[in-house]
Amino acid sequence: MKVIIGSDHGGYALKQEIIEHLKSRGFEVTDVGTHSEESCDYPTYAKPVAEAIQKGEAELGILVCGTGIGMSMAANKEKGIRAALCHDTFSAKATREHNDANILCMGARVVGPGLALMIVDTFLDTPFSNDERHIRRISMYS
Ligand code: RB5
Repeated sequence: MKVIIGSDHGGYALKQEIIEHLKSRGFEVTDVGTHSEESCDYPTYAKPVAEAIQKGEAELGILVCGTGIGMSMAANKEKGIRAALCHDTFSAKATREHNDANILCMGARVVGPGLALMIVDTFLDTPFSNDERHIRRISMYS
């Protein structure tokens, strides 16, 4: 599976840990940046991740900022994007099964790296349920 990932400065260190983890699991990872802890603007990185999902260049995306909130707000402005802010594994599983979320957002100032990697694994390993009622609900806002 191809995964695309981005962060701002607040999420940079966690993004690097996630990339290493995903590569060790055999995922093909595209990193749109940022590439340092120098201050930058999170929408700069939300946009290319969302566009790659829209174009089918990656199946799922991950966005990390300080809180995850700005990234989720920015990504959800893009058509066809269902970005879910998750700081627990229950939400990560449920949003794949129920919402067919295509981007996971997290806040590096909210969760530690151990939990963050468990959330990432849960999100990437959980398929959409394909349940008719969930398809109907998604179609009501997509
Ligand atoms: C940057 O300081 C911070 O505002 C950003 O990482 C994010 O939390 C915004 O939602």
